[in-house]
Amino acid sequence: MNEMTELAGICTSDLTRSAGLGTGPVSCEPYRSPEYFEREREQLFKRAWLTVGRIEQVPEKGSFFTKTIEIWNTPIVVVRTSDDKVQAFYNVCPHRGNQVVLEERGRASRFMCNYHNWVFRNDGRLFGIPDEANFFDVDKKACGLRPIATEVWEGWIFINHQAVPEVGLTEFLGEFGRRFSGISWENTETSLYFEAHLDANWKVLADAFSETYHIPSIHPATIGKTFASQVNPHSRPLDALFWGPHRQFSTFGNPEYAPPEDAMVEKMAYANRDTGNVLGAADTAGMSRYLDHPAINPKQSRYWALDIAVAFPTLHINLSPGGFWSHRFWPISVNRTRWEAEFHVPRPTTAHECLQQELYVARIAEILLEDVTNTERTQRGIEARAFDTMQLQDGEVQIRHNLHHVDRWVNAASVSEALNG
Ligand code: FES
Ligand SMILES: [Fe+2]
Repeated sequence: MNEMTELAGICTSDLTRSAGLGTGPVSCEPYRSPEYFEREREQLFKRAWLTVGRIEQVPEKGSFFTKTIEIWNTPIVVVRTSDDKVQAFYNVCPHRGNQVVLEERGRASRFMCNYHNWVFRNDGRLFGIPDEANFFDVDKKACGLRPIATEVWEGWIFINHQAVPEVGLTEFLGEFGRRFSGISWENTETSLYFEAHLDANWKVLADAFSETYHIPSIHPATIGKTFASQVNPHSRPLDALFWGPHRQFSTFGNPEYAPPEDAMVEKMAYANRDTGNVLGAADTAGMSRYLDHPAINPKQSRYWALDIAVAFPTLHINLSPGGFWSHRFWPISVNRTRWEAEFHVPRPTTAHECLQQELYVARIAEILLEDVTNTERTQRGIEARAFDTMQLQDGEVQIRHNLHHVDRWVNAASVSEALNG
């Protein structure tokens, strides 16, 4: 079998046309136009369900965490209330607008605004007003923290800016939500969190984690040889699947990968351990409940490295043999983005596992730096207006799919129209 024939047997071809997408160059305007960004803000980010975290961040009644959703210009607090309900609120005081909860996270039965000490129960209801007698007919029922529409899917907490969302989360996620439900999300109680502010449009960031075409060139010394091989030197994907605006991308892994002779630490960390065909934080042993889920490695390919599952627009979940991690891309302005990445690794129980995880963390940090240092240069290039379009190959189908659906949302009169065309 020659190399191209073997590659054809491994990777699905014509992903772009099969998805019903065009094949021409795509416009640079969505990456650099302030007007387009404003339409994204109003039409996409204020109408779509957005993930703000996982339920493990609010493990007990009263647990909370705060965040700023820059694209809404809104500070929020997400609480597990005393009634055991996960609920997000505007973190804004109804008295005169001060921010009520200042801590990043914690546990409380009540929150007190430190400006004039108005107090709220953790379900948002107003509890007390100092010197209430000096006010004029305050409607205390209307002066609780203002709730934000909140729903939970598979442990992921989603919020929606619409007071009454046009569609619920289940309908929004559609087939994607059904397909990825029931996964045994491993090691969610431990996480390794990265955050960075970058001078790039949110889609430039998302694009950097949406294709593997760049892997042999950007990551030659880190994962170049695990995501590519002689039979697949350009790291073509195994497959891509699409459900409305959501999607899944299965990437190639080199099953013959072995650490180089001089990589002593890597050899020691992975000696006699099956971590799948790429470096992992955990062994695949004990992961069968997770790995046997039909949505993971859907082709059951021996060349599988990981799946990138994207809950449009901002949640990327990467499912690999050793566990999962996620990225979220929070737009701040047309050319500034806050990027969050979270990795879940088991608590080590032996020295060997410690070593394996140390190596994993060091390697991941290196890879992420390789990925994001490129993004600001890319943004500057796009803004230079040397070109009005960019060229996308078949392996960059996820980028094209994302642009297609962003454009649909920014132009659609309703969420139903955006979802169903
Ligand atoms: S602004 Fe919060 S108590 Fe006055
Ligand atoms: Fe990369």
